Amino acid sequence: MCGIIGLIGDVDAREANGEPGPSVGDVVHQGLANLEYRGYDSAGIALVDTADGLTVAKQSGQVDELAVPELDAVTHGIGHTRWSTHGPPTDANAHPHTDCAGDVAVVHNGIVENYETLKNDLEAAGHTFTSDTDTEVIPHLIEDALATDPDADLLDAVRRVETQLAGSYAICAVREGDDRIVVARRGSPLVIGRGTDASFVASDVTAFLEHTREVTYLEDGDVAALNAGRVQVFHGGEPVDRGVETVEWEADAAEKGGYDHYMRKEIHEQPESLRQTLAGRLDVESGDVDLDVSFPPGVLADVEEIQIVACGTSYYAGRYAAQLFETFAGVRATVEIASEYAFGAGRTPDRTLVVAVTQSGETADTLGAVRRANAAGARTLAVTNTVGSTVTRETDTTAYIRAGPEIGVAATKTFASQVATLAMLAVLFGRDRGALGAADARSVLEDLRGLPGAVQQVLDEEEAVREAAREYGDSEAFFFIGRALGVPVALEGALKLKEISYDHAEGFTAGELKHGPLALVTSETPVLAVLTEGADAGETMNNVTEAQTRGAPALGCVSAGEAYGTLDVSFSVPNVGVVEPLVANVYLQLFAYHVANAKGRAIDKPRNLAKSVTVE
Ligand code: G6P
Repeated sequence: MCGIIGLIGDVDAREANGEPGPSVGDVVHQGLANLEYRGYDSAGIALVDTADGLTVAKQSGQVDELAVPELDAVTHGIGHTRWSTHGPPTDANAHPHTDCAGDVAVVHNGIVENYETLKNDLEAAGHTFTSDTDTEVIPHLIEDALATDPDADLLDAVRRVETQLAGSYAICAVREGDDRIVVARRGSPLVIGRGTDASFVASDVTAFLEHTREVTYLEDGDVAALNAGRVQVFHGGEPVDRGVETVEWEADAAEKGGYDHYMRKEIHEQPESLRQTLAGRLDVESGDVDLDVSFPPGVLADVEEIQIVACGTSYYAGRYAAQLFETFAGVRATVEIASEYAFGAGRTPDRTLVVAVTQSGETADTLGAVRRANAAGARTLAVTNTVGSTVTRETDTTAYIRAGPEIGVAATKTFASQVATLAMLAVLFGRDRGALGAADARSVLEDLRGLPGAVQQVLDEEEAVREAAREYGDSEAFFFIGRALGVPVALEGALKLKEISYDHAEGFTAGELKHGPLALVTSETPVLAVLTEGADAGETMNNVTEAQTRGAPALGCVSAGEAYGTLDVSFSVPNVGVVEPLVANVYLQLFAYHVANAKGRAIDKPRNLAKSVTVE
């Protein structure tokens, strides 16, 4: 998830005192600062001016470290703040990227899934690349399109290139000598801002809200050409009218996408973040997975045991994954709280793979476990959201979860993306070891592909969850139960609620309820159960009944098509096989959010907690 912005024309040029408005470069730079929440490991700007043509400035680091080139006659510019997905956060990998001649500059948000093939073809045709990014193919393809057809202009070229790209993208392109910004969108957000003498384009309205509230939202497949104060939108080569809307939000709310809290925004971002996690990695037809983990051939087949180490929410993602590793790959998989981890005696280090799951990549306890694993001689793999983080440097290889930055302290979208990434890893393992046949793999990948849509269906039910939170939110305590893949989700559901509402919440394996915790159950302690595929719903329902007999209200997340008439509240979970419990978790996230919100808690920064804990 990156942030992009473009501006063409004069901003505030008609100020009463006759002073000139701010420069294009400064407005683009400020826009980037407004978008920094979308990613912040490198930034860059390309400016087009009538005297010097195209000038690019870019570097790793934060937006405020980027110096805007001082030029006299700038007419338009584009900018980018990056959250790495392909290649580390270096100067060379920062956007904008340019073609061989340095005449075309492009910024991009999203993932070009077929970039390797395109890059190979372009290199064979003589193009030279200077970065590791998928994005760099775009300016070279534009260059190619312009060279092939001498009558083509930037708009024609972008239209042509747009048909060559697979994956998701929002693109802004400029060209020396061309007085337009040309943009295209498919699967990644892009909104146009309509000023009087200026036109803006950005990943979201936050970027330019201080200049205009009149916006046009582009749709997938749209290509648009921006002049100062004039915008033309095309779809399938034909001009279309996408209308103009007025944004009512204030800037602070806009940064949170109109939501009151980052946490709620991030819960709602899960369809998009999951799409990014899965993009280009699933080959549903063949049942194969491409995760870019760089173990030499045969290494995975040789692994005798997987040890997952993690803390907090990442630990629960690990508990989910361990079951998938055992089912898909027939390999013994254990999960250990990182601060408790020691490489046990009697184990064979070089046939053990230690998987460190950490959103931030900086959690001291998890890094400590990685160091202990390395010292024992084990192979190590990181699953993280943060390119270039410490864990990526201290492990043999990394699988990125690509969830985009998460600001809320309570992890939500990163949990979903961790489980999805680990599920792909488990399929990869199973395939490599010959333990998972193509037909079974295909069905798992099909379910994974359905994940973003299934999560969206749950989000559409938010009002029902808010209602349940209103009804049960003032209870004495909350118990979450599940079996099998429902266990980590029950534990995570309880963690989320206690973190942000400060209520007493516990997660239990459903079968254990009767062996102790049942003593706590009263009419004041609702029980929330995971009753989906992969979570032994029938047996779990028996445990729900035990609690109901003691007076507890029961709320259940139930596979679509199933019904348990005795539940007090039933939330329907779309049918997506082994990832159904993960989808059920979205109901629990929303429940935690609405309980905490009704109590006026500091949801994004709960007391005593930190997003990244860098002390052991
Ligand atoms: C902190 C956060 C938790 C998080 C845990 C692990 O305790 O408050 O939300 O789950 O760290 O973080 P990591 O970055 O390693 O996933």
